[in-house]
Amino acid sequence: MPSSTLANPRTIKVGFLGFGTVGEGTHRMLSDNVDEIFRKTGAKINITSIGIKDASKARCLPSELFTTDLKSIVTDPKIDVVLELIGGEELAGEMVDLALDHGKHVVTANKELIAKQGSRLISKARKKNLDLHFEAAVGGGIPVVQALKHQLAGNDVIKLMGILNGTTNYILTRMEAEGANFADVLADAQKLGYAEADSTNDVDGFDTMYKIAILAAITFGKQVDLSDIHREGIRSIGTEDMHYAEVFGYRIKLLGICEEIEPDTLMVRVHPTMIPRTHQLAHVDDVFNAVWLKGDFVGDLMFSGRGAGGDPTASAVVGDLIDVCRNIVNEGDGSAIPYGEGMKSLPISELETRYYLRLEVQDCPGTLGQISTTLGRRKVGLTAMEMKSKVGGLGEIAFLTHVCREEDFVAAIEEVGNLDCVTKIESWMRVEQS
Ligand code: HSE
Repeated sequence: MPSSTLANPRTIKVGFLGFGTVGEGTHRMLSDNVDEIFRKTGAKINITSIGIKDASKARCLPSELFTTDLKSIVTDPKIDVVLELIGGEELAGEMVDLALDHGKHVVTANKELIAKQGSRLISKARKKNLDLHFEAAVGGGIPVVQALKHQLAGNDVIKLMGILNGTTNYILTRMEAEGANFADVLADAQKLGYAEADSTNDVDGFDTMYKIAILAAITFGKQVDLSDIHREGIRSIGTEDMHYAEVFGYRIKLLGICEEIEPDTLMVRVHPTMIPRTHQLAHVDDVFNAVWLKGDFVGDLMFSGRGAGGDPTASAVVGDLIDVCRNIVNEGDGSAIPYGEGMKSLPISELETRYYLRLEVQDCPGTLGQISTTLGRRKVGLTAMEMKSKVGGLGEIAFLTHVCREEDFVAAIEEVGNLDCVTKIESWMRVEQS
C-alpha cells in the first residue's frame, strides 16, 4: 500500500544546507510550482530548516527557518531529505556523511565532492537504502546525469565531450567575436559578475575536470582518480590562435573529453581544443554548456542548456528531489546507482590526435623545409599551413598536423624549437577530427 494517498498525502520534510543563488532558486521553485510537484509526487514538501553561514544577512523568509547549526539539520530525526547546496569538499562532505549516517536521503549540487568521493558516498547511501542524487553537479539545468544513468545506460559510449563551464565558454566566445585578449575579457566578465573574483576554478579547468570525472564515472561505471586527468585551462590562448582557428575552419572550446581505450582504461582530459565548425559543439556559445556523446546504438547525441545560475540549477535539484519523493511515497529502494573505484585514465602522452602549431620564424629561404623535415622525422605530418611575414625579418607560420601520438608531437616541437630558423614556439593545441 502506498504510504501517501490524495486524501491523506505524505509530508516529506526537507532541510537545506546553503541558501545562495541555488538555494534561493530551489526554494522559489518548490513554492511557485507546489501544485505541479504535488501532482507528480503525491507528497507535500515541507521545508523545515535552512542552514546558513552568515546569520546577519537579510533574508526573504521568516528568521526561525534559518540556523547556522548545520549539524542540527543533518541529525534532525524529523527530516527526510537534505539538500546540500554549500559546495566545496570538506564541510559539505562531513555534512553529507552525517546526513546518510542519520538515515536521510541527499540531493547535492556539489561537483567537487562527487568527483572526489562519489563512489564511496553512493555505496554508503546504497547500503542504507537511501538516495544520493547529484544532477545539479554537472551542467546546471541540463538533465544529463539521469539520462546517462538510465535511458542511455544500454549503450557502449565511444566518446563523450562537454563544454562544461559557462565562464570559460563566455570568455572564449567574446575573445573570438571581438578579437579581444584573454586578460581584458576576463576583467570585464568579472566586472559584469559573469566570472568570480577568484577565477582559478573556472579558468584553469578545475570545474570542468570535476564535471568530466563525474560523467566518466557514470558512463563507464568506475571513478577516475582526479590526479590522472590531464588538465589545462584557457589562459594561454591568444587572439592569433582564434584567428588561425577560423582560417582553418575550427572554433576553440574548453572541452572535457573522455573515451574508452580498452575495458577499465579511459583517456580523460580537459584542455582547449580546436573543434571543426561542422561539429554541434562548435555552436554552443556564451554561458551555455553542452554534452555531446557517441553511443553505439543511439549514435551522436547532444544535450545543451544553461550550465549555471540559480534557476537552471534549481531545476536539476528539484528534479532529483522529486525522484527521492517518489521513492519515499512508493516505498522504493532508492535509485542511486553505485559505481566502483579504480578506473585507469591513460597519460596524455598516449593520446593520438591532430595538432595545431604556431611558430615565430626567421622569414628566409629554407625555414619551411627545415621545420617540416624535423617534424617528419618524429612521424608528425602536416595537413594545412598558413604563413605571414612580420616586421624585422620575422614571419609566423601556423600548421595543422595529421593524427600523431602526443609523445611524438611534443618531442618534435622541442626539436623544432631548437632550430636556428625558429625564434619562438608561440602556441599549440589539440584538434578534434569531426
Ligand atoms: N562556475 C561554473 C561555470 C558554474 O562557470 O560554469 C558552476 O558549476
